[in-house]
Amino acid sequence: MTDLAPFQQLMTMTDLLTPAAVRAAATLGIADHVAAGATTAGEIARRAGTKYDVTDSLLRYLAEIGLFLRDEAGTYALTPLAEPLLSDNPRSVRALLRNDNMTGSSTLALLRLDHTVRTGEPGYAAAFGRPFWETVNNDTEFVAEWQEHAALADREHVAGGRLGWDAGAIVTEYDWSGARSFVDVGGHLGVLTLALVRAHAHLHGTLLDLHNAAAEAGRRFARSEVADRLQAVEGSFFEPLPEGRDVYVLSAILADWTDDDAILILKRCREAAADHGRVLVADIAMPINGPGAELQMRSMMPAPARSAEQIEQLAAAAGLRLTWRGPGTAVRTLLEFTAA
Ligand SMILES: C[S@@+](CC[C@H](N)C(=O)[O-])C[C@H]1O[C@@H](n2cnc3c(N)ncnc32)[C@H](O)[C@@H]1O
Repeated sequence: MTDLAPFQQLMTMTDLLTPAAVRAAATLGIADHVAAGATTAGEIARRAGTKYDVTDSLLRYLAEIGLFLRDEAGTYALTPLAEPLLSDNPRSVRALLRNDNMTGSSTLALLRLDHTVRTGEPGYAAAFGRPFWETVNNDTEFVAEWQEHAALADREHVAGGRLGWDAGAIVTEYDWSGARSFVDVGGHLGVLTLALVRAHAHLHGTLLDLHNAAAEAGRRFARSEVADRLQAVEGSFFEPLPEGRDVYVLSAILADWTDDDAILILKRCREAAADHGRVLVADIAMPINGPGAELQMRSMMPAPARSAEQIEQLAAAAGLRLTWRGPGTAVRTLLEFTAA
């Protein structure tokens, strides 16, 4: 007789239906609709703007796996398992599981882990046809989320927020006295750019990032009290950068890129810095424990934990030589380079 146990175990291990169904519920806000009083498939589909028949199947499946209670009349109620999907739950995991936002969609890179294992590259482009950062920066569906993140960053600043991942060292440990200007290359929403110009009254900052990030950072700068010393420009760090600034900062950038790409980014900084400028690499080193965490990280970023020595080698390949090694921390390197 054939032993079905390993077959069944393997099929259960590899079943994509359950994660896809829970993610669909998170993306479509199904738990929120039920909590707000939509208790039938018809009403839930109407509020979620979804197809009735497939919504009905989804709800019946979610009831089967314990997220909802379904009575004889087809009325749904939340179980405790669905409560973390509620947007207003203080411990909500909805944002982590949505397919249509930055955090949730970044983990979908795991769908093409085979590609990451084969090439060492992130899986997102293999799964969806376009790299992650390009997608979230160019698709209009992500604009609202960038705006929310920018508003959150403003609120955190007002509340005295700190720079994450030991980025405060870039502001306090580097000697900015000899610099007048810098480019925050891949500066995201400008948290670091703003912190630098606020802490050093003589500094002028330029943030460079892709479309959605640069647009949102520009709006943040315009409403800040230091707007006259800031600008945000849209561009790619694989293309020539704004020239002639004193320092080109790469904060938490290189980890997202393969060695070849990282060398190109460093070259772009070296070219723009020319003879007098400096390149300040403040990369992150993610703490990673165990093979599962390694695979999750590697599916998203090619080099989550490069050492200072590895960064020096990349910089050397880009024609840069080390001029200062700052007090790095467990999660942040701090290295200054100049053209070799
Ligand atoms: C991990 S975030 C780092 C943000 C910021 N420097 C920090 O320290 O938190 C990477 C940033 O690089 C930007 N980025 C990705 N590809 C880019 C490209 N080709 N040119 C410019 N910016 C890019 C992303 O939009 C994102 O803001």
